[in-house]
Amino acid sequence: MTESSHLLTVKPTKDGSTTLFSKKFDQHYHNPNGAVAESRHVFFETPGVLAALKRQDFITIFETGFGTGMNLLLVLEYLEKTESPPAVIFNSVEAFPISPKTAAELNFGNNTFLNSSKHILSDIFGSLIPGLNQFELSTHLTFNLFAGFFDELFEQNAVSDQADFIFHDPFSPDANPDLWTIEVFKNLASVSKPDTVLSTYCAATSARAAMAAADWYVARAPGAVGKREMTVASRSSDKLANFKRVNEKRLIERLERGDFRY
Ligand SMILES: C[S@@+](CC[C@H](N)C(=O)[O-])C[C@H]1O[C@@H](n2cnc3c(N)ncnc32)[C@H](O)[C@@H]1O
Repeated sequence: MTESSHLLTVKPTKDGSTTLFSKKFDQHYHNPNGAVAESRHVFFETPGVLAALKRQDFITIFETGFGTGMNLLLVLEYLEKTESPPAVIFNSVEAFPISPKTAAELNFGNNTFLNSSKHILSDIFGSLIPGLNQFELSTHLTFNLFAGFFDELFEQNAVSDQADFIFHDPFSPDANPDLWTIEVFKNLASVSKPDTVLSTYCAATSARAAMAAADWYVARAPGAVGKREMTVASRSSDKLANFKRVNEKRLIERLERGDFRY
């Protein structure tokens, strides 16, 4: 499926950066209160990516839903700012890649680094082939994008790296239910290390229950720009020591009782 069936419009958000609105999913790609602000909080600050960039020699990230590619540019920006940066592998998957033209229409407010790097996104979207695409974006950053559906990526065993961090960033469970199932979180566990931290903007109880049923420990964290909560998860309970845990057992019972639609 191509972008034309996705029906996208570029929308400003309150921190000056743009996002996209998808008519197909009837949803924004990011929080209208601030696209860049939300991504920094949910995917980089809360799960500890910023701390890991300073501490580790090697970091692997898996992202569910490449969308505009903003998280990739943020990784580049953080690497640029880090003294002696680690080598990063950024793996992502996208079933409905945007066009290079739409990518060129995005802007990142007053962030000069992101604005001056956004041509990278147009170049990526302009050269994609179905399946696995690999880009060496800098001496420190390798980017692998699977152009296709999440399920296909796992059916084809297309990712072999074990992630340190998972950016789970589909549309919400009501709009994009296929990416919030127990099976999805089991697949994510299969590309994880024992202490991987998964983070998502989503605070839905049904999503947390699916994570718990896939053997993730689950916790709540303060949400970004106007949202009360987000979710972090790990297969190591130690990694969640600084967060307020949910009762995983109780959530699994509710899931088995059919309390949730997804
Ligand atoms: C909320 S957006 C991602 C935002 C993105 N991380 C960014 O920073 O722009 C969700 C993305 O997931 C993609 N998507 C939805 N269902 C998918 C599936 N089954 N497999 C792969 N990608 C999917 C959508 O096309 C969309 O680009």
